[in-house]
Amino acid sequence: MKIITIFALLLAFSYAEGECQVFKCHSIEQQDGIQLCAQQTEGEQNEPDFFGVERCSPDQFCQAQKWESPEDVLPDTSLSCGDTSTRNFPPSLESMNGQALDGDHCEQDSHCFKTEDNAATCEAGVCRASTKPGDLCSGNSRNCPKGYFCNIDNICAESLLKGAICTRHRECARNHACIKVKGEQDFVCTEYGTLSNGVLFTEHSEDSFKNPKSLLKNTLISIPDAVGEMQGPFVCKSLAMMRVDGYHQCRSNQRNVDQTYMVDSLDQSCKVQIFARDGAENYDKPIIIETTPRCGFNKNTSAVCPLQPGDNYAMDLFYDSFMSIGRMDCHRLSNSIPFENGRNCKEVWNVRDSQLVFKLLRFYQITLFHHMWANTAANEKCVAQTITYNLWNGMEDGLLD
Ligand SMILES: *[C@@H]1O[C@H](CO)[C@@H](O)[C@H](O)[C@H]1NC(C)=O
Repeated sequence: MKIITIFALLLAFSYAEGECQVFKCHSIEQQDGIQLCAQQTEGEQNEPDFFGVERCSPDQFCQAQKWESPEDVLPDTSLSCGDTSTRNFPPSLESMNGQALDGDHCEQDSHCFKTEDNAATCEAGVCRASTKPGDLCSGNSRNCPKGYFCNIDNICAESLLKGAICTRHRECARNHACIKVKGEQDFVCTEYGTLSNGVLFTEHSEDSFKNPKSLLKNTLISIPDAVGEMQGPFVCKSLAMMRVDGYHQCRSNQRNVDQTYMVDSLDQSCKVQIFARDGAENYDKPIIIETTPRCGFNKNTSAVCPLQPGDNYAMDLFYDSFMSIGRMDCHRLSNSIPFENGRNCKEVWNVRDSQLVFKLLRFYQITLFHHMWANTAANEKCVAQTITYNLWNGMEDGLLD
């Protein structure tokens, strides 16, 4: 009997070891003076202790700075409410000085991009280039009005639309790249997000990325320089591609095999499919690798697998935001939120506090920083309103419902 008890205890202990702490909505016994938003709470009999979480009063914020991840949470600690908020959204105007292009948001003339060719001014909150179609632009499309680019003769010419024959990405309208699909005659302006997995294509040699930037280690997706003249050929539906036999090939981005992203304990591994085999014919044959889960501020003891850019949740976020923003009426080279396609653009600025823009920010936040994903993956609403409020940027209402 004794042996069995010890054995059972050991088993319980080792099991609890790999389990994550629980953070769930629960009313907190408040002491006088300070209002608490999270406190270790005794579980009912047989239940382990957990962290009880309660929202602060409406004008107060949970002071959760020292709890960046569950590993930072010491036993018997609590969080209190205070006046300060760590919300970091929408982005600030700081980076705008001299960068805002025709059609971008501005608050004074100095925000607008100006050169000898272009005496841009800020009018009613929008930068207006002084150049007109056909004006000189000295090789820089930033000098031209939105919808125009600086052509080989150094004059502002109208951007080419979908299907038009082209030679360089910059000639094509926003949200399009100049590519030639294998087997086709010509380079044509091709809309982002339209080519299926397996399709092979080339871009003009001067357009191709010398050093593709990886959004995530081992990922296939690449992002262009945020302010570079060059825009990524995000022409694949998967938004990801790989170099094969001298071509780019559209390939699925890496994704978790299990799209619930959850495992029962930290001791388990997560399986990820990577579509990076050599040979064009192998485009849809995955390699399986394993990743390590981590704890989040979850409502149960499960651990969270790192989100991969090809996962359904990430792709949905990216499509909802990136594609809609790409279709807005902005300068092709308008800066990003924070990576590509129009952070400064007036149309985007006008909806900066909306789910649309938030979704793009969240996509980058959770695919770039695994702990942010784990921290927010299975939050109860009260947790999103307190401990992880800054990661949700106060937008948890719409997203959790
Ligand atoms: C914990 O919650 C997640 C998300 O709701 C769920 O997928 C998972 O199965 C739950 N785990 C346990 C042990 O109940």
